[in-house]
Order: sequence, then structure tokens, then C-alpha cells
Amino acid sequence: MGRLAFVGGTGAQGLGLALRFARAGEAVVIGSRDASRADEAARRIRTAVPGAVAEGLPNLDAITCCERVVLTLPAPALPGFLDIAAGRLANKLLIDVAVPVTLHDGFFALAPVPGAPSAGELVQAVVPSARVVSAFKNVPAERLQDLDAALAGDVILCGDDAAARAEVAALVAKLPGLRAVDAGRLANARYLEAITALLLNLNRKYRARTSIAIVGLD
Ligand SMILES: NC(=O)c1ccc[n+]([C@@H]2O[C@H](COP(=O)([O-])OP(=O)(O)OC[C@H]3O[C@@H](n4cnc5c(N)ncnc54)[C@H](OP(=O)(O)O)[C@@H]3O)[C@@H](O)[C@H]2O)c1
Repeated sequence: MGRLAFVGGTGAQGLGLALRFARAGEAVVIGSRDASRADEAARRIRTAVPGAVAEGLPNLDAITCCERVVLTLPAPALPGFLDIAAGRLANKLLIDVAVPVTLHDGFFALAPVPGAPSAGELVQAVVPSARVVSAFKNVPAERLQDLDAALAGDVILCGDDAAARAEVAALVAKLPGLRAVDAGRLANARYLEAITALLLNLNRKYRARTSIAIVGLD
């Protein structure tokens, strides 16, 4: 399948996912604006996961060498990155993890995404040929990064390409404790993102690290 790239993979969510996928046997490439930060994050993965195949590269090099790219940038950074990277992202599997939220007076709320109803739909609009799947938006980074912690809950997937959703579901199946739930159309991404705003407010209220599980699907 080739390597799995993480744009902005030096951050909490990208590094957490990369650690988990490296432990699951995926070869990972950590992208960063800064080559030395990318190297350092890749080294952390190789140290935490003996035998891991992990390399650090500048973001644009990371996406060039991988057909599967996880976008783990802060939502406000997405439009600018997509502008410069759209050509290189064409036709790739893009896993969008971004959640556009703001925090005011101790309350998390969804932030508007310029030109689209959700971050996932923005990615698809800017790179129409890409196979975009929104995923992992409700999974907390702290738990992903703690390799001793068991993962639990559902990863809701949405995207307009059924084969791409199936590909991401197969990736989720490599992470013990997580279950992929195929939600269908990418237009669901706006609801996934809203759920994360709720989870963040719950986290503040209960000093917790919440995620979600869907009941009633059997
Ligand atoms: N944290 C969570 O629990 C969680 C859960 C679900 C979804 N998410 C989503 O996952 C994404 C990443 O979250 P995070 O907590 O890992 O974010 P983060 O740590 O704030 O940022 C991730 C990385 O993005 C790069 N970056 C930061 N600002 C940038 C800019 N203006 N332009 C280009 N690159 C920039 C940085 O890498 P370099 O400096 O190395 O380039 C940074 O390490 C976000 O969209 C978030 O909403 C997070």
C-alpha cells in the first residue's frame, strides 16, 4: 500500500495517529513546515515503537511520496496549505481530521470554514480529484499518543467515494479498540465536527477525554 503521510504530523493528533499506525505496521512519513521538527517526531516514533518505519520530511515532500495522506493541520491552516499543495494532492486518498473550533469564555463552538460547510468539504472542493474521507475527528489525541492506553469507541467515516471509505475502514481496523462506522456522504462531516465541539465542552466540564460510540447498529 505504500507509506502513510501525516501533514502537520508533529502535532498532538498527527503524532498520536502516526504512533498508532506505526505500531500497527504501517510505514509512516511525518510532515512539518520544518524538516528538523519532522525528523525529531519520526525519531520519537522509532523510539516508542521498536521496528517502526518512520521518516520525517517537509510537508510538500511528504505528500509527494505518499498516495495516502492524513491532513492533521489546525483548521485555520488548511486553506493556505491546500492552496499550495492542491496539485500534489490530486487523486490521492486524503484523510481529513480537522475540526474548526473556537474557544470563547470557556465554551467551544464550531468556527466557520471559509467557502465550505465543513473542513472535509473544503478539502474536497479545493482538490476535486482527491478521494476525501473525514475520520478520527472525535478521537482525542492524548489517548492516541499514550501507547499504554487502550483505545475505545467509533471512528465515523464520511466521504463521497465508497471505495475510499472502505480503505479508511480497513485502516481503522488495524487499531485495536476502535470500530469504523461508515456514515456515507461527505456532507456528514459538518456534524462530525460539531460533535467534537460538544466533546471538548464535556472534557472541560468533567476533566475527561471523551470520544463517541454509536449504539443500535447491529
Ligand atoms: N488534538 C486533538 O485531540 C484532536 C482531536 C480530533 C481532531 N483534531 C484535529 O486534528 C488537527 C490537528 O490537531 P493538533 O491538536 O495536532 O493541532 P496542532 O498541534 O495545533 O497542530 C498540528 C501541527 O500543524 C502544524 N501547524 C500549526 N500551525 C500551522 C500553520 N499555521 N500552517 C501550517 N502548519 C501549521 C504544526 O506543525 P509544524 O510546526 O511542525 O509544521 C503543528 O505541529 C486539528 O485540525 C484538530 O482540530 C485534534
